[in-house]
Order: sequence, then structure tokens, then C-alpha cells
Amino acid sequence: MTDSADRIRTLGILGAGRAGLVLARLAAEAGYRVFVARSGDPAPISRRVAAVGGIAVSAVEAAERSDAVLLALPLSRHREIPVEQLRGRIVIDAMNYWWAADGIRPEFDDPRTSTSELVQRFLPQSRVVKAFNHMGYQDLEDEARPHAAPGRKAIAIAGDDPDALAAVARLVDDLGFDPVVAGPLASGIMLEPGAEAFGADVDAAELRAMLDRFPTSQRGIVVARARG
Ligand SMILES: NC(=O)c1ccc[n+]([C@@H]2O[C@H](COP(=O)([O-])OP(=O)(O)OC[C@H]3O[C@@H](n4cnc5c(N)ncnc54)[C@H](OP(=O)(O)O)[C@@H]3O)[C@@H](O)[C@H]2O)c1
Repeated sequence: MTDSADRIRTLGILGAGRAGLVLARLAAEAGYRVFVARSGDPAPISRRVAAVGGIAVSAVEAAERSDAVLLALPLSRHREIPVEQLRGRIVIDAMNYWWAADGIRPEFDDPRTSTSELVQRFLPQSRVVKAFNHMGYQDLEDEARPHAAPGRKAIAIAGDDPDALAAVARLVDDLGFDPVVAGPLASGIMLEPGAEAFGADVDAAELRAMLDRFPTSQRGIVVARARG
């Protein structure tokens, strides 16, 4: 069960684009206090953020004032995030390597390492959990349903810290989706572009089946060979 010390009540979101604002709205509607940041001065996003129920702040302030911080910025810009202020916090990695946005970055496409492991290496004092990356923002917006609603869709999560994983599972549930644990952060590769689960807008049973098929998929075989 979730350690009450890890209960997320205030959520910071770094990135005020398509994914960040949808997740901000879902969190605000679920009763979370939500801070949203872009890379610079928050003033240009303050109205958009207020419209979804959040408060626009700087990235440093979002990290300092939140129990957990969700990364919804381009992966190629993750080295700009405030490492010190994220120390000790749960960091939810919703990012994907998308060459059109990130440029050609072979390190983000290395089958030996999931991109969330790279983020974890950059934030050694934080507890990184991958979540909310595989579903498109429009599906996130349209498919959120109350707990136990028929046809509810699922969000896969991956992480190494059991308490952080439990806290993020609860967040996923509160935001309107069934959490499905994929495994440790290394298994986040099963949720990345190139894997069947990437783009998944399906229920928990179907998502679990996709993850179970990963080892026999083309990408799964490449990953298994690379990891020896
Ligand atoms: N679009 C989707 O359907 C979807 C779904 C799930 C996950 N994701 C993932 O979420 C991430 C964002 O995707 P998106 O489609 O939302 O992109 P987007 O619409 O282009 O928004 C990106 C946001 O990140 C902000 N940003 C850039 N550098 C930042 C920094 N250092 N600190 C804080 N904010 C920063 C940008 O603001 P400024 O440039 O103004 O600072 C912008 O608000 C990607 O990694 C993507 O793979 C996307």
C-alpha cells in the first residue's frame, strides 16, 4: 500500500503543452493542487493554466512546492529541469523520444537502456516512475473515467521504488485510469515508441497482454539481445 508519506496531494507539471495541460486539468478535477511550469517566465501560460485549474509558476517553484513532479516537456530538454529542487521527490516521467521534436539522439534509442533510466541517472536523488507516456493527449482527455467505471482504460507505470510506484498508481487511478505495473524502470522500454503498448488506449487486461507479448515482439527481441 501507499506509504502515507508518499501520498501525492500537490502535483507539479513541467511542460505546459498538449500533455501537460490535459494532465493538469485531470489532476485539478481530481482535487489535487496543481502547479504548471514552462521553461521560462510563467506569465505567458498563466491564463491557459488557470483555465485548467492550475497555477502557473517557475519550474523551480513547481519542484519546490509539489509532492511529486510530472515531466511533460520534450525529452531532449530534460537536462534543463531543476535537479536540486527535485531531490527526494517522486518524479513522474511522461516523456518520449520523438525525433521530430528531439532531433536525432541515438542515446534515447539505445535498447540497453530505457529513457526513464537516463532520466533517473540525471536525477539520482529523486525516485523516477514512468507513467502517462503511452497514451495520446486526446485520449487522456477523452477517456478518463471514475474508478470501476465499465470500459475504463489503463495507464502502465514502471519504477524501481515500490512506495513511489504505489503513490503513482494511486495518482493514475485518481486521474481516471486503471494503473498497470509494467515492472522496474528498465521495463519502461516496453512503453516507448517502437513497442506495441506505445499509443495504447485500451483496458487493463489488453494492456497487460501487450506487455506480456513484448518479449516475442520485434522490438522485444532486439532489446533482449542488446541486454544479453
Ligand atoms: N502529445 C501527446 O499526446 C503526449 C502524450 C503523452 C506524453 N507526451 C510526452 O510529453 C512531452 C511533451 O509533449 P507535448 O506534446 O505536450 O509537447 P508540447 O505541446 O510541445 O509542449 C511541450 C512543453 O514543454 C515546455 N518546456 C520546454 N522546455 C521546458 C523546460 N526546460 N522546463 C519546463 N517546461 C519546458 C514547453 O514550453 P516552452 O518551450 O514555452 O518553455 C511546452 O509548454 C513529450 O516528451 C511527449 O513525448 C506527449
